[in-house]
Amino acid sequence: MSIISNCTASAIKDAAAALVKGDLVAFPTETVYGLGADATIEDAIARIYKVKGRPKGHPLIVHISSLGNLDKWASNIPEYAVKLARAFWPGPMTLILPRTDLAKDFITGSQDNVGVRVPSHTVALALLKEFESLGGLGVAAPSANRFGAVSPTSATAVEIELADYLSQNDQILDGGPCLVGVESTIINCTQSKPSILRPGAVTKEMIEDTLRISIDLNNLDSESIQIKVAGLLESHYAPNAKIFLTGSPSLGDGFIALDSIATPTGALRLSSPKTNEEYARVLYEAFRLADFKGLRRVFVIPPTGEGIAVAINDRLSKSAFEK
Ligand code: TXA
Ligand code: MG
Repeated sequence: MSIISNCTASAIKDAAAALVKGDLVAFPTETVYGLGADATIEDAIARIYKVKGRPKGHPLIVHISSLGNLDKWASNIPEYAVKLARAFWPGPMTLILPRTDLAKDFITGSQDNVGVRVPSHTVALALLKEFESLGGLGVAAPSANRFGAVSPTSATAVEIELADYLSQNDQILDGGPCLVGVESTIINCTQSKPSILRPGAVTKEMIEDTLRISIDLNNLDSESIQIKVAGLLESHYAPNAKIFLTGSPSLGDGFIALDSIATPTGALRLSSPKTNEEYARVLYEAFRLADFKGLRRVFVIPPTGEGIAVAINDRLSKSAFEK
């Protein structure tokens, strides 16, 4: 495995060629780092599952460089989905849509729908464009962490998560720290009305303002759609340290809260974000710091309110879930 710290045009060319050959390339997106493979090569996708230790059947998001390529992967695209794509792509939003024949069972977990996203990170977009210029159609990329662990928001975090599992020809592209810090908003677009399956930086309010309708959060209607979302498992996004969302820390326990909240006596401050956006950006790194320091318990005061606070609270409650 090599870490490419200088993502020049020629480095991007090499990485795109590696994808075409069936190797894995971890790359930065604005949300978290993804572990990428050519979404049409079954063996390469099988390696993603192996490297992540992810159980079979969890679907993968296909990354493309622009809305213009969406109909290669998705069919029967509702008008509201096009509106959302126009408003928020490139950006931290994944649309779940009915699949075309290109989206095989090994991508969709044998479901009839496929998740697609256009990321906005310049390195991700450059890689996708180069890959497409070589004839590539889409890059499947889950977050570049071991299954159930914390998503990486830096190339170093990818290395810590996956170095032991990647092969010699695989690459990690270093594009700096991720600006959003939590995974994309996932929107179910397979029904007459959209619903949010995983909250993210494209918030409920932003979607409602764009479409001028009210929408539901986590509206998993098992009658009308069978969607498996690994991020909906109750325990996920978890560091080794145990996360507490209530109670007070004892001497030596970790502590994460907005900067305006004072550190309880004896606790070890892991992060002091000034805004909810910064909270999302630094949360996973704070979890990693807790593990690096070998802490057993971390007390977190969750942010309140709407917007990105909803996504942060979603991840916090999953990371605090008893395994
Ligand atoms: O921000 C993100 O979305 C990052 C970056 C790398 O793009 N990717 C990411 O992928 O978070 P992953 O695999 O770690 O989480 C994607 C979630 C999973 O819970 C998966 O089950 C769900 O999306 N998903 C993917 N395709 C789906 C589909 N067709 N139907 C329902 N859920 C789907
Ligand atoms: Mg993930």
